[in-house]
Amino acid sequence: MKTNIAVFASGRGSNFLAIAKAIKSGKLKKVNLALLVCDNPNAPVIFKAKKLKIKVVLVRPDIFSTKKDFEARIIQHLKENKIGLIVLAGFMRMLSSDFVRAYKNKIMNIHPSLLPAFKGKEGIKDAYEYGVKVTGVTVHFVDEKVDHGSIILQKEVRIEERETLESLEEKIHKIEHKLYPEAIKLVINSKLKVEGRRVLARNW
Ligand code: GRF
Repeated sequence: MKTNIAVFASGRGSNFLAIAKAIKSGKLKKVNLALLVCDNPNAPVIFKAKKLKIKVVLVRPDIFSTKKDFEARIIQHLKENKIGLIVLAGFMRMLSSDFVRAYKNKIMNIHPSLLPAFKGKEGIKDAYEYGVKVTGVTVHFVDEKVDHGSIILQKEVRIEERETLESLEEKIHKIEHKLYPEAIKLVINSKLKVEGRRVLARNW
């Protein structure tokens, strides 16, 4: 039995594409990328999904009078498409506590730093400007706080002496595109157990 996943994205969609490719190539098995949920009509990710013939739902927040109504529409799409796992990939919107509780441990996110360092929208730039020698990528479950839920996988990236912000961004994205499919595989194919902040993958 395959698990239907929905990717939520608002922008470029390079992680969306990496996940779609991992499924197509057979690296990520037992997964069906059933839906792209997008909140931005100008997002390049929409074209990427259409090219791959992946179903797109554009849910524009500006046409709803409340966040509750906006999320209710998204939930309707998730139910209609029997979605078992939500994968946030550059979705630039906070989900409400009600939404997160309804999909407890069924929403994943990727963040371009080693959390809990450098939370927020500029994870790569903030780490670069701080001058840390090591940063990285984190995949975590989503809880009610920003960039905070239990960590599924992390991978470090060294910042070399002559590193530029652009070369660091490139390195981080390359890692993201490998790590996200791996993390999805882990969530879907292993019996993960979430115990407080810890995600236990085996031997529990
Ligand atoms: C990624 O860097 C991800 O870590 C962050 O948003 C960015 C999305 O990039 N959450 P893309 O749209 O997948 O190319």
